[in-house]
Amino acid sequence: MDNKVYIFDTTLRDGEQVPGCQLNTIEKIEVARQLEKLGVDVIEAGFPISSPGDFNSVVEISKAVTNPTICALTRAVKKDIEVAADALKFAKRGRIHTGIGTSPYHIKYKLNSNEDEIIERAVEAVKYAKRFVEDVEFYAEDAGRSDNEYLARVVEAVIAAGATVINIPDTTGYCLPKEYGEKIAYLVNNVPNVDKAILSTHCHNDLGMATANTLAGVTNGARQVEVTINGLGERAGNTSLEEVVMAMKSHHDLDYQTEIDTKQIMKTSRLVSTLMRMPVQANKAIVGRNAFAHSSGIHQDGVLKNRENYEIIDPADVGVKESSIVLTARSGRAALKHRLHVLGYDFEGPELDEVYNRFLDLADKKKDVADEDLEALAGTEKEKQDRSIKLETLQVISGSTTIPTATVAVSFNGDVFTETASGNGPIDAAFTAVKALVKRKVHLEEFLIQAITRGSDDLGKVHVQVEHKGQIYYGFSANVDIITASVEAFLDAISKIG
Ligand code: KIV
Ligand code: ZN
Repeated sequence: MDNKVYIFDTTLRDGEQVPGCQLNTIEKIEVARQLEKLGVDVIEAGFPISSPGDFNSVVEISKAVTNPTICALTRAVKKDIEVAADALKFAKRGRIHTGIGTSPYHIKYKLNSNEDEIIERAVEAVKYAKRFVEDVEFYAEDAGRSDNEYLARVVEAVIAAGATVINIPDTTGYCLPKEYGEKIAYLVNNVPNVDKAILSTHCHNDLGMATANTLAGVTNGARQVEVTINGLGERAGNTSLEEVVMAMKSHHDLDYQTEIDTKQIMKTSRLVSTLMRMPVQANKAIVGRNAFAHSSGIHQDGVLKNRENYEIIDPADVGVKESSIVLTARSGRAALKHRLHVLGYDFEGPELDEVYNRFLDLADKKKDVADEDLEALAGTEKEKQDRSIKLETLQVISGSTTIPTATVAVSFNGDVFTETASGNGPIDAAFTAVKALVKRKVHLEEFLIQAITRGSDDLGKVHVQVEHKGQIYYGFSANVDIITASVEAFLDAISKIG
C-alpha cells in the first residue's frame, strides 16, 4: 500500500462551525492561502447551501488558491449538490463531499428511515454529484457508532456509484483507538471494491482520542486524514493537523509521507487563532505557548546540555525559533546564567552565586521571574559592565495634522551627537534617528509595550529585540514616557552589540 497520507484540512468548514469563530470571506482567503503554503492536499472551504457567505467563500477560495483541491460539503440532497457544484465552478480541482447518517441513531431518530433506504439515498447522491465533478467524497455520518457490517455495505455501494474517497467520521468522538482502527481494518478486509477509493479518517475529540484514533485509522489503511488547525471544531474539536503530522514525522518507524512543510505550522496556528479569536491553550501539543518551554531546574540543565534530553521535536521544525527557559524558583544556576547571557550579562563564579541567591529570594516571592527583573538583579553588576551609549535628550513632534518628527541626542563615551528624522509615528521617527546615529545595520525583530498597571499615568515597560549580523540582542526600559522608554530600550539593545 502507498504510504502517502493526504491531508484534508477542514478548519474553514468544521472548524468554522465553532460559535464565535466565524470569518468573513477576506479572512477565509488569508487562511486558505496560508494552508496552501503549509502544503495541505485538500481545503474544505465551506457548506455552500448553508448561507450566501459560505457560498461566496467557496467561490473566492477556489479563485485564490491553486494547488490544493477545493472541497464543498453537502447533505445527500440534490439542491445542496447543485449549489456546491456552482460554488466550485472556478476551482482548478473541485471535490463535492456528500453523505448521510449511517448509525442506528441517525437512521431512526434523525432521518426517520431504514437501512436500505439510506443506501439508496447515498448512492443517488454520489451519482448525482458525479454529474458535476469527477472527485466525489462520501461521508457516513456517525460511522463511529455504526454497525461495521452495515457500514461495509454502504461503502461498497457508494464506491460502485463512483465515490473516490470514503470518509468514516467518528462524529461524536465516541470511539477508542483500537475500536476505530478495527473499523477501518474491517472495511479494508470486507469491502470487495475498497481498492477503488481512499479511506479517510474524520475524528472528533470528545474523549480526547481524536489524534490517537486518526493514527489508528492510518495504521489500519486510511490514507486521508481530516484535520483542523489547533484542533478547532464542534464541541471538543476535531483532530489537530499539527499533532497528526508531527506524530508521523517524529516516528520514523511509521514511514508515512505528507506534503506538509512543517516549518509553516506555528505561523498557521497563530494566524488561525488570531483571526478566529480562539486562543490556543498554553500546554497544547506542538503549538501551545509552553510546548517548548522548560521550567524545572533538572529539565533546564538537561536541555541546555543537549536539547534532545527533554525535547522530541526540534522547535525549528515547526517554525519556532528556539526552546524557552522559564525562570522560576525551581530553576538552577545553569538556566540563570544562560538567560543572563542572552540579556547581555556574563557572570561566573562568586558573582554568579551572588546573583543566583538574589534571584532565588525574588523567585520565592514571584511566580515567574521576567527579564526586567533579571535586569534589575544584575543591575549592581551592570554599572561595572559600562554601557557607553546613553540617551541624553529626546524631543518629538506628533499629532493628527503633522508629520511625526523626532530629534534624538545620544552620548557615545561622553561625546554627544544629535540627529532628526521623521517616520510613520513618533517611535518610528525616533528609531530612525537612532539608527542614523549608531551607524549600524540593526533590524528591529520584536517590540513590546506593556503598562505596569492600568492607569494612564503609570510606568510603561518596553521590550525590544534587535538583530545585527544574525545575532539577537535584547533591550529593556521603563519610563512614564512611553516614547522615551522605547528609545532607551532600543539603545539598551544596541549597546550590547560587541
Ligand atoms: O463530523 C462529521 O460527521 C462531519 C461530517 C459532515 C463530515 O463533520
Ligand atoms: Zn465533523
